[in-house]
Amino acid sequence: MATAVEGVDLNTPPTPELAATLRKALWDNQVLCIRGQSIGPGAYLTAISAFGEPQIRPEIPHVDGFPAVTTLSSEDRDTKGDGKRLVAGATWHSDDSFMARPSALTALYGIVVPDEGGDTQYANMYAAYEALPEDKRRHLDTLQVVHTMKPAREGLGRTRSIDPAILAQRPPSTHPLIRTHPETGRKALYISRNRMDHIVGMDRAEGHRLIDELVEHAIQPQFTYRHKWRQGDIVIWDNRCLMHKANGDYPEGARRFMQRIIVAGEVPV
Ligand SMILES: [Fe+2]
Repeated sequence: MATAVEGVDLNTPPTPELAATLRKALWDNQVLCIRGQSIGPGAYLTAISAFGEPQIRPEIPHVDGFPAVTTLSSEDRDTKGDGKRLVAGATWHSDDSFMARPSALTALYGIVVPDEGGDTQYANMYAAYEALPEDKRRHLDTLQVVHTMKPAREGLGRTRSIDPAILAQRPPSTHPLIRTHPETGRKALYISRNRMDHIVGMDRAEGHRLIDELVEHAIQPQFTYRHKWRQGDIVIWDNRCLMHKANGDYPEGARRFMQRIIVAGEVPV
């Protein structure tokens, strides 16, 4: 899992050949890092458009004039909650799993990165699925899960407090626990722990125990990759076959600033 590319300058829009090479690298490795970039939001959007259609999420702060380029900053505070530092995505998840069509890909551009800490971790959900015993896989193949934007669990880390008006526009979605990747045809566990309200037809607590057990299985070292950010990295990852997790373990006062673009996905099947 995970590959890095050097010697590409995304100030020049990718040629069709380069775009095809980068997409293949992503499908083969799930996480693609393009190193050494120094680009503005327009070039960033053009480059990520080679992978699919950028999406807008109005509830997240964005770069002026570029609503699809959202920002993640060490200065973010939960202004609708208690005002404490906000590290979004600190529990294992897959982006926007509560949407009917969750984002396929997420790109994150590290513009200011701390010297220590702030890594992003990934778990390969193809490999985690494939390592399960066959009878377990057969059972999991039959399960559907209701995902909600409102956090489904207590004590799994902080999330941005959500405007009730936004919440009202985002009804729960039901997705299979095992999904098939539309590009590779491979099956993967589809887990976003804090958004999984319940497994259909299963007692809520029992469903949560099963999800927790699968998360513990999937985050074993042989299935995971930890990205240590360098300034200028653009990391693109595939939400359809990965979980990921942010780490807020950099010191108070250290700066971290990133720009994020999410790419449209499909209904999980
Ligand atoms: Fe995330």
